[in-house]
Amino acid sequence: MKICMVGTGYVGLVSGACFADLGNIVYCVDKDKKKIDKLNSGEIPIYEPGLDEIVKKNYQSNRLKFTQNLSNAVKVSDIIFICVGTPTSKKNKSADLSFVFNVAKEISKNINKFKIIVTKSTVPVTTGDKIEKIISKKRSKKLFEVVSNPEFLREGDAVRDFRFPDRIVVGCNNKKIIKKLEFLYEPLIKKGCIFFSTNRRGAEMIKYASNAFLATKISYINEIANFCEKTKVNIEDVSLGMGLDKRIGGRFLRAGPAYGGSCFPKDTKAITVTADSYKTNLSIIKAVIKSNSNRRMLLIKRIDKILSNKIKNKKITVLGVTFKPNTDDMRESTSLLMLPYLNKKGAKITYYDPSGEKNVFNKLKNVSFSHNIIHACLKADLVIIHTEWDEFKSIDFKKICKNKNLKVYDMRNLYSSDKMKKIGVNYYSIGR
Ligand code: UDX
Repeated sequence: MKICMVGTGYVGLVSGACFADLGNIVYCVDKDKKKIDKLNSGEIPIYEPGLDEIVKKNYQSNRLKFTQNLSNAVKVSDIIFICVGTPTSKKNKSADLSFVFNVAKEISKNINKFKIIVTKSTVPVTTGDKIEKIISKKRSKKLFEVVSNPEFLREGDAVRDFRFPDRIVVGCNNKKIIKKLEFLYEPLIKKGCIFFSTNRRGAEMIKYASNAFLATKISYINEIANFCEKTKVNIEDVSLGMGLDKRIGGRFLRAGPAYGGSCFPKDTKAITVTADSYKTNLSIIKAVIKSNSNRRMLLIKRIDKILSNKIKNKKITVLGVTFKPNTDDMRESTSLLMLPYLNKKGAKITYYDPSGEKNVFNKLKNVSFSHNIIHACLKADLVIIHTEWDEFKSIDFKKICKNKNLKVYDMRNLYSSDKMKKIGVNYYSIGR
């Protein structure tokens, strides 16, 4: 099939490259000339393991094209995916749909034959109805169908999540069109992936409800971790013991700092605002938003206690600053609060992250980036493990740190408390 992906961000580029890898001809469109020029010169603007080779392979075999020319790409394509951002609006915490609606308008001007228009961007329930209204101002409804096909890609695992999804969700009120989407996804369905279809609003709701539930699960285990600390219970045992119940499931039960990223914070706010506009109070998700936001400072303030309120001039090393491993994304990462907090208290901070130096910390005095773990930890009084990158999972602290009274604050529970005690490291973790 001929496909047009509008938006070459994290969803559009990954999905476009993977659709091309399934044998389709894919036009990835973006209005950002710099981005398109970079992509055409082989530069991938996002950090996503495995994406580089898929883009290169399909670009070279001419299945994957990058262009600013939306008009032509829409005209030659059978299916057009809207993959532009839906950031939190500054006004009222709802999803800002202006980019989506602008693209819908542009598409409507270029419908030269029947088109399937698919929203892959995360949009509040009923957005498909609004897109349909915008397009039918320019074209008869006989010439297009608006479908919801949300993505469930995790940053750092996006290529794998596209290729081996737990399920593909398609929402459309027209069975014939559902069949076409089923045909597009056939190579994945043949490998055992479940193709689930419902109506358009159903698919829109599934996306938000899924993300909000995952955020709830994380906040839930984070609060249980607080309780475990007071009762000397090991949260890791609780997560494992709970997860063995198939109704609960073991994933997304790892206690840690507050959840971050671009999706959970944005989608939890958006679903509660949309529900409020329908006079429905999603009180649990609102509580999750509050709990998660409180958690950030709750865990940061522990550093005062660990250093007996003497942070000034202390050498603090932070390992990992991204919101999760295998990405360079800093959005809503706890480190964005933690480093300025420690800096303000007079700490001398060194940080290392495998995804590289972060501009956001450049303006902070006494904060420096180190290019490796050993150099970063050498003179530390306190090492904080913030992001669970694989390379932080087997550090010999006694060997690489000169300070005999070294303290380690492990925000991801990567190490065993007993083993750290045995080697004489003052070890602090979460929920244990
Ligand atoms: C999420 C959803 O998982 C994905 O399906 C959706 O399409 C986009 O949003 P993403 O935000 O990329 O994906 O990463 P995810 O792996 O879900 O982690 C989100 C946050 O939750 C991170 O801050 C992570 O550290 C935290 N988390 C995750 C936990 O604290 N504990 C866990 O057990 C899992």
